[in-house]
Amino acid sequence: MNQFLSKTDPEIYDLIEAETKRRREGLEMIPSENHTSRAVLEALGSILSDKYAEGYPNKRYYGGNQVIDRVENLVIERAKRAFGTPHANVQPYSGSPANFAVYLAACENGDKVMGQNLTDGGHLTHGAKVNASARFFQSIPYHLKEDGYLDMEEVRKLALEHKPKLIWCGATAYPREIPFEEFGKIADEVGAYLAADVAHIAGLIIAGSHKSPAPFVHIITTTTHKTLRGPRGGMIMVTEKGLQKDPELGQKIDRAVFPAGVQGGPHEHQIAAIGVALKEAMTPEFKEYGHQIVKNAKALASELLAQGLKLTSGGTENHLMVIDLTPFGKGMGVFMEEALDEAGITVNKNTIPQEPSSPFYPSGVRLGTPAITTRGMKEGEMKRIGGFIARIAQEIKTLHLPEDKEQRILYLKEFRANLASNVNVKEVRKEVQELCSSFPIP
Ligand SMILES: Cc1ncc(COP(=O)(O)O)c(C=O)c1O
Repeated sequence: MNQFLSKTDPEIYDLIEAETKRRREGLEMIPSENHTSRAVLEALGSILSDKYAEGYPNKRYYGGNQVIDRVENLVIERAKRAFGTPHANVQPYSGSPANFAVYLAACENGDKVMGQNLTDGGHLTHGAKVNASARFFQSIPYHLKEDGYLDMEEVRKLALEHKPKLIWCGATAYPREIPFEEFGKIADEVGAYLAADVAHIAGLIIAGSHKSPAPFVHIITTTTHKTLRGPRGGMIMVTEKGLQKDPELGQKIDRAVFPAGVQGGPHEHQIAAIGVALKEAMTPEFKEYGHQIVKNAKALASELLAQGLKLTSGGTENHLMVIDLTPFGKGMGVFMEEALDEAGITVNKNTIPQEPSSPFYPSGVRLGTPAITTRGMKEGEMKRIGGFIARIAQEIKTLHLPEDKEQRILYLKEFRANLASNVNVKEVRKEVQELCSSFPIP
C-alpha cells in the first residue's frame, strides 16, 4: 500500500511513518488501545470500502451486494459464536453509536435510564450530563463506594426507587470484575432492560479471562478496537435472555442502527476487519493472550504498589488500573500524563472515585496492559515498567496545580519547558526505547 501512498501523498505518508515510529519506540498503555494485526489492517484497507450497502444482508437498498452479504453474514455468525448470543448486529460505526441504538430500541424519549457515573469510571454514553443520552433520557447515575468498588446496594436502591427502563453495566475506567449476575437480578426485579457495555473487556470475555455477561443481561454492546484488537468499530448482541424478555428485540436493535438511528451505509471494510479480529480472538493463542493481559496487569499493579503508589480499589482484576495521585495533591493527572508521555509511556489522565478536582484536571491516570501484551511482554517487563512509572512519579510529586486559571496556564508552560530538559525523564525514555526494541509491534 505504502508504495502508492508515498508517491501520491508524501505528507500523509510521512505522518503515518512518524506515528508508526512513536508507537514502535514507546509503550502504549492507554487501556482502550491495542496494536492490530496486519491481517486486520489488510481487510480494513480493502476495496470493500467502496461499496454502498444500506440495509441488511438480502434486504439492501443498493444492487451489487452479493459478495457484501456473504461478508456481513460471516461476521454476524462469528460475533454470535464469540459472545454466545442468538443475534448480532455488526454495523455500528463505533461504540457510541452502538449505545445510542440501544436507547432507541429499548426506550422512549424521556424514559429513565441508569448508568455508572462518569467520574466514577462510567462512559459518556451511559447518561453523562454533557451527552445526548442525558438530554433525551432521564439519567440516574450510580456510584462507586469509597473503597473503589461498585456500590451495588445503591444500584438496587436507585433501581427500586426510579424503576428505570434501561440499566447499563460496564465501564471505561473500572479495574474490577463487573458483577453481571447481581445487575441481572436487580434489572429483573424492576423489569428493566439490562445492557452490558463490554467495550473494554470484550477480548477478555472471549478469551475467558473475565466472566461473560451473556446469561445475565439482555443486550451486549462493545467496541471492537480495545482488548478485542480489531479495527475501530462497534457491535450489538441480543442474548437468549433478551429474546425471552422481548422476542422482537433483535429486530428493534437492527432498526435502531439503520434506518431509525444515526447511521447510513454500513462500513463493510470495517465489518470485514472486525470479522478477521473475531476469527483471531477465537484461537487458543488469543485465549492465552487474554489471560496474559490480566496476569500482566496484576504484576504491574503489585509493582506500582510496592513502589509506594496508590491504586483505586487497591489493585486490578482486569486489564487496567487507575493510579490515585491525591497523596501528591489534587488535579495531578495532567503532570503525570505529560511526564510519562515525555518518557515514551502513553497513558491518560483520569478521574478517581470521589474526584476532588475536575474531569479536565483529574487526580489520577489510567493505564493498562492490552497493547504491551500484544508485543509479547510478560511479568518481568511489567516489573521494569512499574519501576519506570515510579521514577517518573518522583519527578512530579512536588508540583501543584494552581487554582487560578491564569497562574495554571503559566505553571503548566513552565512545567512543559522543564520537562523537555529533565535528565531523569530522558534516562527513563532511553530505557523505554531499549525495552521496546526487543518487543516489535506485530
Ligand atoms: C465502555 C465504553 N463504551 C463505549 C465507548 C465508546 O466507544 P467509541 O469511542 O468507539 O465511540 C467507550 C470508549 O472509550 C467505552 O470505554
